[in-house]
Amino acid sequence: MSDASHDNPHAPGPSLWPIGFAIGVACLLLGLVLSWIIAAIGAVLAVVFGLLWARDVTREVRGEVPEIEPETRAVADEAAAPAGPPAAAPLPTYTRSRFLEASTLGISAAIGAVVTLPVLGFMVLPSFTNLEEQEADLGPLENFPEGKYVIASYFALPGGGEVSRRTVFVRYNGLVENPANQGRQEPSFTILYSRCVHLGCPVQPNGPIDEAAKKNVNGVELRPVLAQSFGCPCHGGLYDAEGNRRAGPPVRSMDRAEYSIKHGRLILGPVYAVGNVSGTGANAMISRYPWSTPGTHVDGIEAWLYPIVPTQVTG
Ligand code: FES
Repeated sequence: MSDASHDNPHAPGPSLWPIGFAIGVACLLLGLVLSWIIAAIGAVLAVVFGLLWARDVTREVRGEVPEIEPETRAVADEAAAPAGPPAAAPLPTYTRSRFLEASTLGISAAIGAVVTLPVLGFMVLPSFTNLEEQEADLGPLENFPEGKYVIASYFALPGGGEVSRRTVFVRYNGLVENPANQGRQEPSFTILYSRCVHLGCPVQPNGPIDEAAKKNVNGVELRPVLAQSFGCPCHGGLYDAEGNRRAGPPVRSMDRAEYSIKHGRLILGPVYAVGNVSGTGANAMISRYPWSTPGTHVDGIEAWLYPIVPTQVTG
């Protein structure tokens, strides 16, 4: 007696591609929060495993059914086979599991596109729209009295509107000898960036603002202030007059901006991160680091313990 089930071909084993695809999507989502390198690895994994999975799922549709020899037993009496017209070729069948696999793949692809395309757009579009922040001209040096901070508010992107408004606290430290320039006397400035290095809230100077002396020159608003420290209203961060962290959750000193003097005007350069400042004014010793997002430790053991922080947009 023969068992009919033995005549059916063995189906291919379950594919591992969906697992690889899921790991890729997970890496991609994690990378969007942590780092673009992890996101890129995740995207590559998701695309590769997704394609392999799609190839598997659509194999029948594409007519690439693998050659599988059915396990059969010798029929003792071929003459016993019923006579009649040859059987028609079986129509391709789509099982429920195939349908579910294809649906899952399609939904995953749609979710991946919805999540990644806007992010990719924001990452790639600025390269084509030339929206890089430019140097800012803060105006003539006479606008900055010696030893006092001035709140300077300017537009980082010409034509960028209010969203590109930035604020720095500028203090003129007087003339100092520059050994790199044959000992010539050059103006020294301390320029603190107003973005809190905890989570990015706008830091405020602690002291009265001289609104009567306010100036607005070519879109740059200048307001002298008697600031002995700086405070962040969001979580109580406190910085001293050199931008060193004194209290609260900020993880480093306030960021500073480079500057140059061109034709008697103060030109603001790129912002950089600061670990600690010892000394004051023109004599300050600054431990300087490449700019990092708020919340990033730039020195000390914390910089080793917390090397990766969530990606944030600059501004
Ligand atoms: S954002 Fe400034 S203290 Fe939290």
